[in-house]
Amino acid sequence: MSGLFITFEGGEGAGKSTVLSRIKARLEKEGYDVVATREPGGSLIAEKIRQVILDPIHTEMDSRTEALLYAAARRQHLVETVLPHLKKGGLVLCDRFVDSSLVYQGVAREIGIDDVLNINLFATEGKLPDLTLFFDVAPEIGLARITSHHGREFNRLDRESLTFHKQVRDAYHQLHKQEPERIRMIDASHSIEEVTIKAWKEIKHVIEG
Ligand code: TYD
Repeated sequence: MSGLFITFEGGEGAGKSTVLSRIKARLEKEGYDVVATREPGGSLIAEKIRQVILDPIHTEMDSRTEALLYAAARRQHLVETVLPHLKKGGLVLCDRFVDSSLVYQGVAREIGIDDVLNINLFATEGKLPDLTLFFDVAPEIGLARITSHHGREFNRLDRESLTFHKQVRDAYHQLHKQEPERIRMIDASHSIEEVTIKAWKEIKHVIEG
């Protein structure tokens, strides 16, 4: 089997990180060679860039600076972590990728999808996921989940307004409509068990071709 690159996308509190770790465990049980990783971060240099981006004291961060930092972290992570594992024929499960930048920087921060896509094409040399799972939940529900979940870090983006998070959700819907084959939408308003089952089905479908 050749490697497969699967990304997990969605707004805050959609449960994608929890589902990702459950799916990883299940795939490993079945004998697959899996790397679970995340953006921004996933390699030493990219984690350092993450700290700069998400630091709550960086209130003066310009939105284009932010977009460039995400793209820089993405490049380093892709080269150091994602591509080597795919080359070995493994599965890479990645929490967020280019779609996050299109949605958060392109739409919600109003830079424009085309400009953000361009810097990302430079960063990734056009590399796309084989499958993207978009975990869809109303921001009211997602944000309420985050506030009640004390173990999770509260970052600069969580402070954004409800309108910002609604724009994020609408933009994901837009991307899903443009690429319904690659981007599969999963209703994430249900229990984590139900959401994991749906995600598992989509992933097995792609793995088994
Ligand atoms: P994180 O704590 O990983 O949040 P989550 O669990 O919701 O993924 O923080 C990542 C934040 O970075 C999240 O608010 C979305 C944002 N982000 C962007 O704005 N653009 C990007 O390209 C990426 C990868 C993330």
